[in-house]
Amino acid sequence: MSEALPFEEVYWPDKERYLEYYKKSVYDIERFWDERARELIWLKYWDRVLDDSNPPFYRWFVGGVTNININALDKWYGTSVENKVAYYWVGEPGDRRAVTYGDLYREVNRLAWALRELVGVKPGEGVTIYLPMIPELPISMLAVTRIGAFHSVVFSGFSAAALAERIVDAKSRILITADGFYRRGRIIELKKIADEAVRLAAERGVKVEKVIVVRRARVEVPWSEGRDLWYHELLNEAPPKAYVKPEPRQATDVLFILYTSGTTGKPKGIMHSVGGYMTYVYNVFKWNWDPRPDDIFWTAADIGWITGHTYIVYGPLMHGMTQIMYEGAPDYPNPGRIWSLVEEYGVTTFYTSPTMLRLLMKYGDKWLEGRDFSRLRLLGTVGEPINPEVWKWYYTKVGRERAPIVDTWWQTETGAAMISPAPGIALVPLKPGSATYPLPGIVADVLRDDGRPAEPGEKGLLVIKKPWPGMLMGIWGDPKRYIKTYWERFSKPEEGVWIYYPADYAVKDKDGYFWLLGRADEVMNVAGHRLGTIELEDAVLMHPAVSEAAVVGFPDPVKGEVPVALVVLKEGYEPSPKLEEEIKAKVREVIGPIAVPKRVLFVNKLPKTRSGKIMRRIILRLARGQDPGDVTTLEDPASVDEVKKALENLKS
Ligand code: WTA
Repeated sequence: MSEALPFEEVYWPDKERYLEYYKKSVYDIERFWDERARELIWLKYWDRVLDDSNPPFYRWFVGGVTNININALDKWYGTSVENKVAYYWVGEPGDRRAVTYGDLYREVNRLAWALRELVGVKPGEGVTIYLPMIPELPISMLAVTRIGAFHSVVFSGFSAAALAERIVDAKSRILITADGFYRRGRIIELKKIADEAVRLAAERGVKVEKVIVVRRARVEVPWSEGRDLWYHELLNEAPPKAYVKPEPRQATDVLFILYTSGTTGKPKGIMHSVGGYMTYVYNVFKWNWDPRPDDIFWTAADIGWITGHTYIVYGPLMHGMTQIMYEGAPDYPNPGRIWSLVEEYGVTTFYTSPTMLRLLMKYGDKWLEGRDFSRLRLLGTVGEPINPEVWKWYYTKVGRERAPIVDTWWQTETGAAMISPAPGIALVPLKPGSATYPLPGIVADVLRDDGRPAEPGEKGLLVIKKPWPGMLMGIWGDPKRYIKTYWERFSKPEEGVWIYYPADYAVKDKDGYFWLLGRADEVMNVAGHRLGTIELEDAVLMHPAVSEAAVVGFPDPVKGEVPVALVVLKEGYEPSPKLEEEIKAKVREVIGPIAVPKRVLFVNKLPKTRSGKIMRRIILRLARGQDPGDVTTLEDPASVDEVKKALENLKS
């Protein structure tokens, strides 16, 4: 194994070269994407690159025919990649499996055969997949798309009610799940939750006809004869050398749907297309990670979210990557779990969320020190703004100042990264906390409330001004909500102007760098000044004692709203009035007197979704004395009581 080279020698920052490539890409986006799509295998090329005759329902590669299996799996069969490991899988208790591209190909074919011949899955129908982080999850996704059906993966941490809601919305007849899996040393009995969800769905008129069960935890499961089928028995019934021809699909067919929360209670089924998603993900993966044949790639996230769909399943497989896939909790059995795997497998490219980094940072540097990370050459982050404190820690302690940080801004709706460094083309100089420039083909800008462009350095709203292949096709079953959520804010249909609105605050600095400042739908107005919760939280996080922070706006008779910070302390710190004053002083120092929180309240836990997003809305409701609403999707519903208790202090 070669020594990792110093940063400068691997990626000599070259802004001019990047911007030159970028400029060419957006000069004629149709031509640009036409060329990019030809790097993939198609059964038939498209008649039109982009059909924009019915905005905002853009359709990419119209007339094109393909199947993503051809590019993720079949293309490797009979090449040297066939015997390459696709997934080094590590179970939480320490059990391991190595799954090669050949193994994937054979198992996907057998499962596809069984789904089609024995279960009766039809092209164009939706299959719900509720599986933990085991190789059978990507195998199921590929088998489903191979036979021309689409998948709806539901994160295995969701409750029965949340799963039922998604089964009903997608009208799935088929559910793929597991007996159980390991989390923090315990077995989560998934089949029981799935059974409850199937019952709830039936009450709402959607009958799940077959439940396919992967045996993982080897726990006893309730069984419904005639409805339930063991995954391994289905595979055994398929011919050992089963081959299922990848079903030819229109580029504009649905590849998958994935639910995401919006500003209302009902989750949105984000639809992605066969041809557009495939093209966008293939190219962005290359730009983000500069893939090399001997890479060990690790996206430490769950496939139940878009990050996993794109950066654990489709992106890496289309590039023949070897990956790490880990089943369990990142700090189990000790806070060094992640780092010991990075060292042991010689991970070259590591991608995770700021939340995960803050968690690991909280445990202290001793879990990192002395480890051999010499093969690490790229680090990535996704999901939230990364505060410069954490960026610097990641860069120095993990990357040892050799690995550039690829901060990727994107959304479930966008398919893959949109604004991020692109070391696969040319790295631009990095600024801690900025996702740098839009990727090729992406036309992004920052607008004021009234739609005029913001000045450099002025905070505004991020927009995307041209369609891109990875864009969502719409919201499953709800075209009106699609238009309303993403297009109404800034578009001028009468002038033929259509602008995509992601609902994120951003600043473009004088060098054209984008700084993402958090969701625009969680804004505070303090004495007429607008404050982003993220800006405030960053400031609070700059205090060395703070591990996690949530800032929300509380109603105030004079100022309209005042910020209140809920704070989780790092190990070794105790709550005290002195510490509260210090944290307030930090905010005053970083943003100014206007932003100083009225109170800093100490808690042991914040209400977070299982993907790590802090649910400020729940804190806000509690603060107003309202019912917290649906808490079933929280990582730990007990956090709600924590917050309630802390808020009692507000009155004093
Ligand atoms: C936020 C995750 C700042 C943003 C892929 C976006 C980020 C939402 C970043 C989408 C980043 C994601 N910097 N903010 N690098 N990446 N976000 O759908 O607010 O789970 O709108 O997709 O996460 O979250 P989602």
